[in-house]
Amino acid sequence: MTIHFHEAVPFDLDEAGSEYYQDAWIYDHDFHWYKLDAPFYRNMVGSIGGPVLEIGCGTGRLMVPWLKDGLNVTGVDLSEDMLERARQKIARLGKATAANATLIQKDMRKLRFRSQFNVAVCAFNTMMHLYTHEDISLFLRGVHRALVTDGTFMFDVLNPDFRWLMRDPAKRWSRIRFKHPHYGTTYHYTTNHYYDAHDQIVYVYVYHEPVDEKDGPSYVLRFGHRIFFPQEMTYLLETHGFEVENLFGGFDGSDLELYSTTSVFICRKR
Ligand SMILES: C[S@@+](CC[C@H](N)C(=O)[O-])C[C@H]1O[C@@H](n2cnc3c(N)ncnc32)[C@H](O)[C@@H]1O
Repeated sequence: MTIHFHEAVPFDLDEAGSEYYQDAWIYDHDFHWYKLDAPFYRNMVGSIGGPVLEIGCGTGRLMVPWLKDGLNVTGVDLSEDMLERARQKIARLGKATAANATLIQKDMRKLRFRSQFNVAVCAFNTMMHLYTHEDISLFLRGVHRALVTDGTFMFDVLNPDFRWLMRDPAKRWSRIRFKHPHYGTTYHYTTNHYYDAHDQIVYVYVYHEPVDEKDGPSYVLRFGHRIFFPQEMTYLLETHGFEVENLFGGFDGSDLELYSTTSVFICRKR
């Protein structure tokens, strides 16, 4: 079967906004190369100490090293498939280490816990899945409740890149050839997206297509990203009881500037 999605168009975010996270194998496969942030968060979390809350913990990419360092970590995610893969990785750490991990299936807009955390992390653009003012407010109020006074909240979101946002939605971008983890055949990975400048939401399509039509199904996985501008985010944080202590343009601690790909926020609960 061949799919013919030529032009990216907006879609229903409630229905398809998290489609990409329904297959944790594909997620881990597509992002196996992404390691930039791990040493940064590991050092930061290690120097502060637990208990640690990771919001949108996914397949445990960041949680696993923190657990290896002896920290007590609670991971929250909406996708049961992502959590199941995290559970498997954590089980391989052995009983004693795994006992320091708690995994909870929960919407990040509904964070409520019996005890509080020293540090909360929401890494790798997870907050870009908060699409409306209400979503953001519910989330930030939950993080605030979850932290001890003076607790640390750290996260990263993409720094808006106008060159990328304005790409032609009718073209395919980022073509990569890869061996499909389920079918074992050669596939092409491509993407395209549509940016709604009014709502600041980018609608992303990720296509997986076999090089030879006979070698497996073609399919598309979608997700939405809310684009946050640094001053807007700072205002949102301040109005929800956080002080921004540092805003970096990368995990090397560099200043945020026009060409920074990531905005890294280090905040204190007040
Ligand atoms: C880009 S992944 C990041 C995963 C992990 N932190 C990492 O760095 O590999 C975003 C994660 O956020 C989760 N997510 C998306 N919307 C969510 C929501 N409303 N509540 C909780 N988790 C959500 C997804 O299931 C996914 O695992």
